[in-house]
Amino acid sequence: NKGNYEHYMQKEIHEQPESLTTTMRGRLIRGGSCKAKTVLLGGLKDHLKTIRRSRRIVFVGCGTSYNAALAARPILEELSGVPVTMEIASDLVDRQGPIYREDTAVFVSQSGETADTLLAFEYALENGALCVGITNTVGSAIARHTHCGVHINAGAEIGVASTKAYTSQIVVMAMLALAIGGDAISSQARREAIIDGLFDLPNRVREVLKLDHEMKDLAKLLMAEQSLLVFGRGYNYATALEGALKVKEVALMHSEGMLAGEMKHGPLALVDENLPIIVIATRDTCFRLQTAVIQQLHARKGRLIVMCSKGDAASVSPGESCRVIEVPQVEDCLQPVVNIVPLQLLAYHLTVLKGYNVDQPRNLAKSVTTQ
Ligand code: UD1
Ligand code: M6R
Repeated sequence: NKGNYEHYMQKEIHEQPESLTTTMRGRLIRGGSCKAKTVLLGGLKDHLKTIRRSRRIVFVGCGTSYNAALAARPILEELSGVPVTMEIASDLVDRQGPIYREDTAVFVSQSGETADTLLAFEYALENGALCVGITNTVGSAIARHTHCGVHINAGAEIGVASTKAYTSQIVVMAMLALAIGGDAISSQARREAIIDGLFDLPNRVREVLKLDHEMKDLAKLLMAEQSLLVFGRGYNYATALEGALKVKEVALMHSEGMLAGEMKHGPLALVDENLPIIVIATRDTCFRLQTAVIQQLHARKGRLIVMCSKGDAASVSPGESCRVIEVPQVEDCLQPVVNIVPLQLLAYHLTVLKGYNVDQPRNLAKSVTTQ
């Protein structure tokens, strides 16, 4: 049921304040003034000790689910104290990459039925790793066969392009980082700031959704283009990959997400006055580096669209030709949840303007059950 919306993708983008609320329901505990703020993931509580003692946490997924894990990686590294590595499911299987008994392997999948992810899971199981699932689908293969896990509870996702599952996956993995991190005094203030940020996140997403019209205007400007680049780094490297994936998947437009730190190592050669480039430069420890990237792209006459935190438009914009997307600022590790929303809206509007099928892009299936 699409309700008042024209398409499922549109509905699912706009219902993210509610889906995020459901994802967190009953799992965040914020007591009175003297009571600690904590996270409770019922599906993991008996396994946290094993996860903390593991030698490595390996995230495994495909497409958007991989990108969600990539977005959460920095906070997992920071709070868990355990090395975190990333595997695209098919590549892990192709390489028969190393997986050990001392590893915790986390399988991220909206459908819980993706063939590549299931094959990687069977491989990790054979190698003796603790296998954890993060899925949206109760009763799916991943949910049933993993040792333990977390349901993201985002509600059914119908559009082939994953939107609300992505933001709920990131939130679950931020909660996972808090749960693994335990109650060390040294990180208490940070953990409390993240929990406060999580409580506030649905409202911030409601706020960023107001950019709908602005993103439609941007889509009108970009709809005739052949190509689009998205530069991000740090917490928002994943936002660049995921924004570009959305655009190529539904708007059928070539689009690449790139690590801004790699710009000088090749991509800079593509820059001219025609190719549109989105640079994500919201406030975090990478902000100064991103403003330098903006200057360098501007010096080469790059056609820039900058995403920045509210109030930063004047300080990030290198000139009048640059378009700016201002988003609400949240705790740095949660910023990817806010930043992806304008890019989801952009992909949606590009597709509708071009007259393509937004819920069923050509050649794609919602659940990829073949290799
Ligand atoms: C569970 C109930 C929820 C109830 C809550 C009350 C289910 C599906 N969830 O939620 O309805 O309101 O208790 O305390 O009945 N699991 C895996 N692999 C996965 C995902 C989950 O093994 O990929 C396992 C978990 O380890 C857990 C079970 O499935 O044993 C349910 O997981 P989840 O729904 O996340 O647990 P709760 O949030 O506690
Ligand atoms: O169901 P899964 O999360 O395992 O699906 C993984 C990918 O197939 C999926 O995210 C795909 O990239 C989406 N169509 C992206 O929008």
